[in-house]
Amino acid sequence: MDLNLAGKSVIVTGGGSNIGRAISLAFARERSHVTIADVDEAQAKKVAAEAQTLGAASAVAARTDVTKWDVVQAMVRDVEGRCGGVDVLVNNVGWTMDRLFIEKTREEWEREIQLNLWGMINCTRAVLDGMIARKSGAIVSMGSDAGRMGEFREGVYAACKAGVIALSKSLAREVGRHGIRLNVVCPGMTMPSSDDEISPLSMWAAEANRQWRTDEMKARIAKVYPLRRVGTPEDITGAVLFFASDRASFVTGQTLSVSGGYTMM
Ligand SMILES: NC(=O)c1ccc[n+]([C@@H]2O[C@H](COP(=O)([O-])OP(=O)(O)OC[C@H]3O[C@@H](n4cnc5c(N)ncnc54)[C@H](O)[C@@H]3O)[C@@H](O)[C@H]2O)c1
Repeated sequence: MDLNLAGKSVIVTGGGSNIGRAISLAFARERSHVTIADVDEAQAKKVAAEAQTLGAASAVAARTDVTKWDVVQAMVRDVEGRCGGVDVLVNNVGWTMDRLFIEKTREEWEREIQLNLWGMINCTRAVLDGMIARKSGAIVSMGSDAGRMGEFREGVYAACKAGVIALSKSLAREVGRHGIRLNVVCPGMTMPSSDDEISPLSMWAAEANRQWRTDEMKARIAKVYPLRRVGTPEDITGAVLFFASDRASFVTGQTLSVSGGYTMM
């Protein structure tokens, strides 16, 4: 299926690691102009080099902290200047620490809200003026099944992801008249296969989350997935490319779980 993404200008936030990395490389294979907007510039540069060899029209690492409004605006202006506009924004940055609500510190809650919600608000707001002017755009955001059904040890993160879904639906209603679509992809548990695929800032680099990456843990988790395996970063890319493409030109405000059947709604 030709997705008609060749030559399109795409920003992937957190595109240096794991799911964001796989999404950046998937757009590269479609010959898009890919901007990898990650706070870890060295990791983003690594992925940009890979993207270039896979056929990206261009691949640029843009050091960006999505929680900083002025930084996000400058990054978007740079992409607009280089590529003539932003066709696709993938709001991929997210973070959580696996811990009970009553055991988490206020700093951890604040960080979850900053990265999962403020990052998405900032980046979405920053691309909208250009998309409205050009009467076209697709915004795909990473939600989580936690945001659809709640999740043990992920309370504030789940609240943020529910916020990502609700904001996407609300904006889909507001900006649909300008030809702009917003949709959400909810990955299941999706781990990197090696540390090469992640920044030290990835949540999978944190000691508390490393325990999930053993074969034994993966086999235990797989038991609750009808498809009996955990996801790979590449599993997530098809849904993102579809929502980003003209093939989804009549699809907006939708949430799609790519989680092996873990949730069905
Ligand atoms: N991996 C999963 O199991 C899973 C499950 C459900 C939802 N999700 C969601 O999918 C998305 C991607 O998850 P992942 O596991 O690939 O993440 P990850 O933690 O592996 O990677 C996050 C990337 O974001 C970058 N980053 C961190 N803070 C940043 C900031 N302030 N500004 C810009 N970049 C920043 C990091 O450098 C890293 O490259 C997240 O939104 C996450 O919540 C992931």
